[in-house]
Amino acid sequence: MQRLAPALRADNVPLDLISLIKTILAATKEISFRVSQAQLGGLMGSTLDENIQGEVQKKLDVVANELFKDILLESGFVKAISSEEEDTSVAGEDNGKFIVSFDPLDGSSNIDINSLIGTIFSIHKAKPELAAGDPDQFKQAGNTQVCAGYVLYGPSTMLVMTTGKGTHFYVLDRTHGGYLLVERNVQVPVDTQEFAINMSNQRFWQAPMQNYINDLLAGDTGPRGKNFNMRWIAAMVGDIHRVLTRGGIFTYPADNKDANKPYKLRLMYEANPMSFLIEQAGGMAMTSEGRIMDMEPSDIHQRVEVIMGSKNEVEHCLSYYKK
Ligand code: AHG
Ligand code: MN
Ligand code: MN
Ligand code: MN
Repeated sequence: MQRLAPALRADNVPLDLISLIKTILAATKEISFRVSQAQLGGLMGSTLDENIQGEVQKKLDVVANELFKDILLESGFVKAISSEEEDTSVAGEDNGKFIVSFDPLDGSSNIDINSLIGTIFSIHKAKPELAAGDPDQFKQAGNTQVCAGYVLYGPSTMLVMTTGKGTHFYVLDRTHGGYLLVERNVQVPVDTQEFAINMSNQRFWQAPMQNYINDLLAGDTGPRGKNFNMRWIAAMVGDIHRVLTRGGIFTYPADNKDANKPYKLRLMYEANPMSFLIEQAGGMAMTSEGRIMDMEPSDIHQRVEVIMGSKNEVEHCLSYYKK
């Protein structure tokens, strides 16, 4: 099995980007260790603080964020970072070539039940004409990402990453401490009989999503003429990993549960990196109005509607919005 750096060099990834990726992965190895220690490390439970998203921060949210932030800012490769757990973007080196957005700990509600969690990251080139502290550094569409990935702290620790040359799977080999390539050019099957949505929000969705899900639930005697299975891990990393592995449709649609918050997932550090991975694996990643990665962001914490996964199923879902 190939090690990470040679695999990236074989894809002609520039050396400075490889160095940054290795820096990011050093942080994930540390988080992976801390996660595995659970109560032994005193990292379970919540803090007394709320993040800018209005969520109570778990201790691991904060620790993972600090680890990621410190390692990235010390590296010298990074001009600025933005994180789910930081109120604003944070300046790094003025001559840093890249900017990094990250969700240090995805699936926070799974921490205390020893279930799937992960880290998501997205890398863009820095804008040389803007200062490191200028938040406009992050006003870049997902279609200009140079790398995106996530690390899943599951029964094995896996890295799933793309630099625009396919989506590849790696596993952390603890015997030598590095990530090894286990599957190149993963492909999301175009058809599926599996969907992922938080069904408890059903009454808050818009009519097209209500109708689409009703038709899936109707099974083989309904308009789809086949049965669908449902899965919901409550961690986007876990649900997207399943979709990349065996297909499916994953959606967090618009809802009217909270008038000020029609969408849940965040564009910069959840939707964009996952869209890049899904598209590089032959899947589709959309809002009900267009391609997620073509959205011009206006804010680092911007939220967005997400419908992604197996191509034919995503297209089928979107057809309900055009009826
Ligand atoms: P985070 O833990 O980083 O705040 O993200 C949680 C997100 C995402 O991972 C997941 O798909 C979704 O929230 C779960 O939402 P519900 O709580 O509505 O199930
Ligand atoms: Mn959160
Ligand atoms: Mn998240
Ligand atoms: Mn998070």
